[in-house]
Amino acid sequence: MYKAIPLNDGFYIPVIGLGTYKLPNPDDVENIVKFAIDAGYRHFDCAWIHENEEAVGKAIKAKIIENVIKREDLFITTKVWNNFHRREKVMEKLKLSLREMKLNYVDLYLIHWPIGFNETSKTVPLGDGPGAYSDVDYLETWKGMEDCLSCGFTRSIGLANFNSEQIDRILRHAKYNPVINQIEVHPKFSQKKLIQFCKEPNIVVSAYYPFGVGEQTGTPRFPETTVLDENIHRIGRKYNKTAAQVVLNYLVSLGLCVVPKSESNLRISEYINIFDFQLEPEDVVYLDSCNRNNRICTMRAFMDHPHYPFRIEY
Ligand SMILES: NC(=O)c1ccc[n+]([C@@H]2O[C@H](COP(=O)([O-])OP(=O)(O)OC[C@H]3O[C@@H](n4cnc5c(N)ncnc54)[C@H](OP(=O)(O)O)[C@@H]3O)[C@@H](O)[C@H]2O)c1
Repeated sequence: MYKAIPLNDGFYIPVIGLGTYKLPNPDDVENIVKFAIDAGYRHFDCAWIHENEEAVGKAIKAKIIENVIKREDLFITTKVWNNFHRREKVMEKLKLSLREMKLNYVDLYLIHWPIGFNETSKTVPLGDGPGAYSDVDYLETWKGMEDCLSCGFTRSIGLANFNSEQIDRILRHAKYNPVINQIEVHPKFSQKKLIQFCKEPNIVVSAYYPFGVGEQTGTPRFPETTVLDENIHRIGRKYNKTAAQVVLNYLVSLGLCVVPKSESNLRISEYINIFDFQLEPEDVVYLDSCNRNNRICTMRAFMDHPHYPFRIEY
């Protein structure tokens, strides 16, 4: 069974979504997304910055034409990138993503990061210093998100990479509350405090980098830096599952949704096949004990940005 969890606005999010960051060239992306739909995925975690939304959209259209799915079966997320935090730009960028994907609406629109860059800056202005930063407050960006909701271009709105103080500030000013905060979570970076914080306002946490792989060197350093250690492989053997399936099952059992990325058909099939076993308490205790506060996606180059989210504990 493919589970979905309720959002605070009445919609449901399927707990497993296919991450689409760093998926390869457009033809491959189209085939990967088609394969994933056939394998049962109904949730795709997209973003303008991934530069592949057109190919994702082609795959969706093809599968709708083939009668494999209807649009309403899918949960499509996209995100507004840091250069476009001005209120009017937020909707302009969503319309662009919709045009690329040939959709009338997305299910979820997220502010990708609380930190804004100037519209004329590079998309990732490494080494360009504070002159590349915009002074648009993310509260203004949130108003743009609410505009998109009111106009029906998205069903739900949310955040990514926001810390507890930033979420609290949004909640104090929002007309519509965020439904999601998408953050890095894996056994070595358990984020227990931020997850707990999100419970009270009923904000679902979506876990990216579920295997703690990341791409610090430009290519995934797998399996050396993964969270999938020999003990997790051993746990997997008990249930006839892989270590990756154990980690995804564990994260979902915590009430999170997860967005692993893969371009391997084998692993795409593997990640969605995690709902037929339940970890024994001793295995959960081991996974809980793996935390090392080991954040991979630090965005350290932008530490001096006034809205850099990782200066406080959570
Ligand atoms: N909101 C944000 O700021 C943010 C930031 C980062 C990511 N995200 C989202 O989260 C998604 C997931 O993040 P991610 O894709 O970077 O990390 P991830 O899902 O933790 O890692 C996936 C990487 O690990 C590799 N991998 C997994 N199992 C493997 C194995 N057994 N052997 C070899 N390689 C293996 C995959 O390669 P294969 O493709 O070959 O399987 C892939 O490159 C992204 O696609 C994106 O949608 C959001």
